[in-house]
Amino acid sequence: MMSQSVQDAINRQIDSELSASYAYLAMSAYCENRNFPGCARWLRVQSHEEHGHALRLLDFLLARNGKAELKGVSGQARDYPSIAAVFEAALKQEAEVSGQIDALYELAFKEKSFAALAELNWFLTEQVEEEKVARQIVAKFQLVGNDPASLLEIDRELGSRTGTAAPAPQA
Ligand SMILES: [Fe+2]
Ligand SMILES: [Fe+2]
Repeated sequence: MMSQSVQDAINRQIDSELSASYAYLAMSAYCENRNFPGCARWLRVQSHEEHGHALRLLDFLLARNGKAELKGVSGQARDYPSIAAVFEAALKQEAEVSGQIDALYELAFKEKSFAALAELNWFLTEQVEEEKVARQIVAKFQLVGNDPASLLEIDRELGSRTGTAAPAPQA
């Protein structure tokens, strides 16, 4: 049985992953409205991945006979000044989640929750990848500035991302 503090922290992280999923969905809708279907697709797939992270933690919690306390995702609608700003917000969000995972790992270590440490190892590795990918996309947007042809090229590239829960790629 895991300590109450580790269970509470995992519950908070489940909410955080769902909050990230929700934020990516909102970003995706923004991009769709701005006629960047590739960016919208990439973000929709990412939203689905974050939902998967929440389920992964929930399943772990339940497997350890822990109690799920899903408190709901609160927040306010966000607006973005540009498509590039969407991905800057995504990078910031990923950096925050990395900090949360680090703190959760530290807590599980202190509480000698060894099974939780094993599970969280996957999340540590995943955050390295997610931050790297987001940083690369932000760098591309910075590089091209407002050049329409280059922005369309980035949109095409991001639209090639495969995954579930996304509309079919645009022809
Ligand atoms: Fe995540
Ligand atoms: Fe993420």
